Amino acid sequence: MSDVHPKLYAELAGWWQLVSPTEDYADEAGFFKDLFQAENAKSVLELGSGGGNVAWFLKRDFTLTLTDISGAMLAESEKQNPGLEHIEGDMRTLRLGRTFDGVLIHDAIMYMTSEEDLRAALLTAHEHCKPGGVVVIVPDYVAETFQPQTTHEGRDAGERGVRYMEWTWDADPDDTEVSYEFILALKEGDELRTVVDRQKVGIFPRATWLRLLEDVGFEATVVEDPSTGGERAEVFVGHRPSQAAVL
Ligand SMILES: C[S@@+](CC[C@H](N)C(=O)[O-])C[C@H]1O[C@@H](n2cnc3c(N)ncnc32)[C@H](O)[C@@H]1O
Repeated sequence: MSDVHPKLYAELAGWWQLVSPTEDYADEAGFFKDLFQAENAKSVLELGSGGGNVAWFLKRDFTLTLTDISGAMLAESEKQNPGLEHIEGDMRTLRLGRTFDGVLIHDAIMYMTSEEDLRAALLTAHEHCKPGGVVVIVPDYVAETFQPQTTHEGRDAGERGVRYMEWTWDADPDDTEVSYEFILALKEGDELRTVVDRQKVGIFPRATWLRLLEDVGFEATVVEDPSTGGERAEVFVGHRPSQAAVL
């Protein structure tokens, strides 16, 4: 993972709802809800829960614990999810000393840019998953489905407005990083400023995901994901074998 924290999750955290509003997460949250309910999960830990947008939809059906490396993003989440447990921590090293029926790592897993970091995050998921529990891992793409692209979006709320371009490209197809860059125009009343946020995210072949999930102790499968209308093709589901199955 890059040592430079993305601006979007630090000094721009207060703009997150205009960049990525909660309502955009409804369909995928419904898909995750079905996956967890199929396993009878009641308690769910999210690693990299950001502004808590998926959580907003899941909190009616599950007891949620939300964790993120960014205190500023947790503060945003607390605004829309008051009363939920929020804990600051890095998904590569977090150890809460307790386990959950389910663990979710949504698009935050993309910030694992080396195999070592990805393995560490998956191990954290395993350490917090009950025997018999399930982990749902949601990368934007795997190496086989990655497409360079440029999109632009924007919205307004009262005196504030955002317009931004998101530019995803791969400078070196032989390494495990992809450039994920934002050029943002932020308007507050008459004031207009621009910010460039150059992020790096990870890219790994499907077989690497499955191998690392198995390495840390999950029985892993790929599940087709219809929730984003083709934007994202698949998610990884891992089951931690129950004690009886291990003996
Ligand atoms: C796109 S947001 C996640 C959105 C979230 N799933 C939601 O429903 O709102 C990505 C988050 O990953 C977090 N993140 C990045 N690296 C992390 C790490 N090593 N450990 C924990 N969180 C991390 C960022 O701080 C950011 O809040």
